[in-house]
Amino acid sequence: MLHLIERNRDAYLPLLLLADPSEAMVRSYLPEGELYAWRSEEEETIGVLHLLEIEPGGVEIKNMAVREGYQGQGFGKQLVQAVLRNLKEREYREVVVRTGNSSIGNLAFYQKLGFRMSGIEFDYFTRTYEDTIVENGIPCRDLIIFKRPL
Ligand SMILES: CC(C)(COP(=O)(O)OP(=O)(O)OC[C@H]1O[C@@H](n2cnc3c(N)ncnc32)[C@H](O)[C@@H]1OP(=O)(O)O)[C@@H](O)C(=O)NCCC(=O)NCCS
Repeated sequence: MLHLIERNRDAYLPLLLLADPSEAMVRSYLPEGELYAWRSEEEETIGVLHLLEIEPGGVEIKNMAVREGYQGQGFGKQLVQAVLRNLKEREYREVVVRTGNSSIGNLAFYQKLGFRMSGIEFDYFTRTYEDTIVENGIPCRDLIIFKRPL
């Protein structure tokens, strides 16, 4: 079930770091926007999703992660779909999410949720992160921008 997190956001840092390896970066946007947790019936936190409003009617999924051990079981999809329903009810029009060229799993995940690629920011990761990120044997260099109308 979806929960809006009102306080103690730092407690979700370990989960948020699964999606973004830079703690400094995660901390820089953590106080902003809306933080949601997906919890089991036993109140265990399974996933987390951080939203920022980027323009009137438009939000960005800044970070999302499902706990290791729970991935690949449909929880991420349920979490995103619940947040999209909530945003639509609040009359938001568009959701943006940005990920790396090497994050093959994320490229599949977001497209299965109806997001389409809308742009590439070349060399974003090379410029922003000090250490080279390699995933699936591919250097992470470019930022892929996805959009989905609501
Ligand atoms: C990316 C992530 C949030 C997906 O959540 P999840 O619970 O594992 O995904 P789900 O089980 O809900 O998968 C939903 C769909 O995406 C597909 N999918 C998910 N991960 C995939 C992968 N690595 N490769 C291919 N397809 C994948 C599933 O097959 C499923 O397809 P279906 O709808 O046809 O059944 C999760 O794996 C995660 O936390 N990863 C680490 C952090 C991260 O990279 N976050 C994203 C930052 S932008």
